[in-house]
Amino acid sequence: MVQLDVFDFLLNNLSIGKNMNKEEIIKKTEDFVKKAFLEDFTGHDYWHTQRVRFLANKIACDEGADLFEVDMAALLHDVGDYKFFNGDERAGLLLVKQWLSSLEISNDLQKKILNIISQVSFKNTLSESGSIKNKEFAQIPSKELMSVCDADRLDAMGAIGIARAFAYGGFYKREIYNPKIPPKRNITQEQYKTTEAPSINHFYEKLLKLKNMIYTKLGKKIAKKRHRFLNLYLKEFFKEWKGKM
Ligand code: ADP
Ligand code: NI
Repeated sequence: MVQLDVFDFLLNNLSIGKNMNKEEIIKKTEDFVKKAFLEDFTGHDYWHTQRVRFLANKIACDEGADLFEVDMAALLHDVGDYKFFNGDERAGLLLVKQWLSSLEISNDLQKKILNIISQVSFKNTLSESGSIKNKEFAQIPSKELMSVCDADRLDAMGAIGIARAFAYGGFYKREIYNPKIPPKRNITQEQYKTTEAPSINHFYEKLLKLKNMIYTKLGKKIAKKRHRFLNLYLKEFFKEWKGKM
C-alpha cells in the first residue's frame, strides 16, 4: 500500500527541488517512491517498480524513446494508483503532479509523464462490455508511453507475474482456485475493480490477455516467452489439481 505519510515527505522536500540535474531528480524520486511503497505486500512493492524501470529502459533504448521521461514515468507509474486512494483516480495523479512540480520539471514534461501514468493501467483498457478496447488510447501512444506500458504488462506475466498474482490473492484473502467459480473471460471494468474471485481466475481475466496488448517489438518478443510460461504453469496446475501423475 502507498503510505499516505508520503504527503508529509513531499511537503518536507518541497524546498529542496531547485536547480537539480536529471540524476538528482531521479535520486530524489527514487527515495520518494521507496517511501511510498514501504511495506507493500500486494505485488506493488519497490521491486516491481525497479523491474519495470529496467525493462522500460531496455525497450526505450530499442525504440529510441526519451530515457529520462521513461525512467521518471516508470518510477512513478504506480504511485498514483486509484486503489491506494479509495478508488479516487485523481488524488493519486495530483500527488504525482505535486511531486513533479516540486522538482521544477517543465510543464511540458510534467504533462507527458502524467499522461503515461494515467494511461498505463490495465483496468482502463477494459470496456463496459468486458471486451478489450481496440484503440485503448485517445491519441497515438508515444514511444515513451509504449515502453512503460509494455514493461508494466510484462511484469504481470511469466514467473514473476504468477508470483504477484498469488501474493495479491493471499493479501486479499482470496482462494487459490475454486472449480465452482469460473473466470469471467469478458470481465468488465467495474467487475475487475470489485472481483473477489480466486487467483487462478485472474490468469483468464487479465494475464493471458496481455500478450496481445504489447506494443513494441522487443516487448512482444519477451511477452511470447512469458505467455508460454503462463500456459505451461496452468497446464501443470490443473494436472496436479486432478491428481494426475
Ligand atoms: P500493475 O498495473 O502494476 O501490474 P495491478 O494493480 O493491475 O498492477 O496489479 C498488481 C499485481 O497484482 C499484478 O501482478 C496483477 O496481475 C495482480 N492482480 C491484480 N488483481 C488481481 C486479482 N484479482 N487476483 C490476483 N492477482 C491480481
Ligand atoms: Ni505497475
